[in-house]
Amino acid sequence: STGLPRDRLGRPLRDLRVSVIETCNFRCPYCMPEGLTPEETALDRARRLDFDEIETAVRAFARLGVSKLRLTGGEPLLRKGLPELVARLARIPGIDDLALTTNGSLLAGQARALREAGLHRLTVSVDSLDPAGFSAMSGGRGDLGDVLAGLAAAESAGFRSIKINSVIQRGVNEDQALALAGRFRGTPHVPRFIEYMDVGTCNGWRRENVVPSAELRDRIAGRWPLRALTPTYRGEVASRYAYADGQGEVGFVSSVSEPFCGDCHRARLSADGQLYTCLFAARGQPLRERIAEGEDALAAHLSGLWRLRGDRYSEERAKVPADRKKIEMFYIGG
Ligand code: GTP
Ligand code: 5AD
Ligand code: SF4
Ligand code: SF4
Repeated sequence: STGLPRDRLGRPLRDLRVSVIETCNFRCPYCMPEGLTPEETALDRARRLDFDEIETAVRAFARLGVSKLRLTGGEPLLRKGLPELVARLARIPGIDDLALTTNGSLLAGQARALREAGLHRLTVSVDSLDPAGFSAMSGGRGDLGDVLAGLAAAESAGFRSIKINSVIQRGVNEDQALALAGRFRGTPHVPRFIEYMDVGTCNGWRRENVVPSAELRDRIAGRWPLRALTPTYRGEVASRYAYADGQGEVGFVSSVSEPFCGDCHRARLSADGQLYTCLFAARGQPLRERIAEGEDALAAHLSGLWRLRGDRYSEERAKVPADRKKIEMFYIGG
């Protein structure tokens, strides 16, 4: 069949997230808790797609309608030669938005090279502005000062309105929502508060630890009045709000309290070349052999897979058995 594919629920394919590496130098308890074995946290390098393979894959996805591309991990800045990959992907026709999600720990040394390579946008995860709390939330591996230095380096390299992702958990870093909002008020950067999700199986997720976005929004609005903004595109993940006094913007990602599967146009490619059509998928579809056949064969194959897609996990959460296998976030990418 011809034309851009739509899945079984009528959703087009617009957004691709490519994990360039599955491992990480942090051990955030909600994602990659301490104590996993080396086999659980890293693939052998030979199993990672190389840059030629990633470029071929992205070219094929772009032909099927993908215009937004995000590089993720694990921690993507651990991948050797990343700016070279960015430069190759930035040139692909149809890719008009190229972003990267990082924990920021290595950003100070790489921000300029990434900008010069053509990266458009950055998202940096910051779960706490308290040095001890930050360290705890990275599993004792991260240093808040390094991340703030990374942000400063990114600003001077020319990145504007950087998104600051924070996963807020009940009884862990709830107090940080106001602190983060206050810290970035009056700057072009945009804090985004993310509900703790039941991705993967190793984080021991419990619903009681989720802080619903509505609660955080009311807390922030109680201090600095907010007004809702209209989405910048259909299917935007975060609900956006502006400060009534013009001092900037915040966003909320509410995939537990208000699932947004109806407009989910995202596909994910893992570092070892598996396609995942949902963050909560039990398994992926291996693409490496199709990538080797080239862009045309791969595009045809992907089109067929996308047409079969019916994923809407966040809307079905209550009906899915709690012990069902789910892929880990660090492996599949944020
Ligand atoms: P923009 O390109 O700036 O719009 O980024 P985005 O809104 O897609 O946000 P980002 O990639 O930073 O995602 C923020 C967080 O939202 C991720 O780290 C995930 O925790 C969550 N998230 C993103 N996409 C999905 C999704 O498809 N399903 C669910 N359940 N959560 C998602
Ligand atoms: N719940 C919500 N977001 C998560 N992330 C990782 N694990 C989870 C989880 N359990 C997201 C965060 C982080 C990004 C890299 O992945 O947004 O900033
Ligand atoms: Fe690493 Fe990001 Fe997962 Fe934390 S959330 S362990 S920084 S991949
Ligand atoms: Fe998309 Fe799956 Fe997230 Fe729903 S749960 S928004 S289908 S990735």
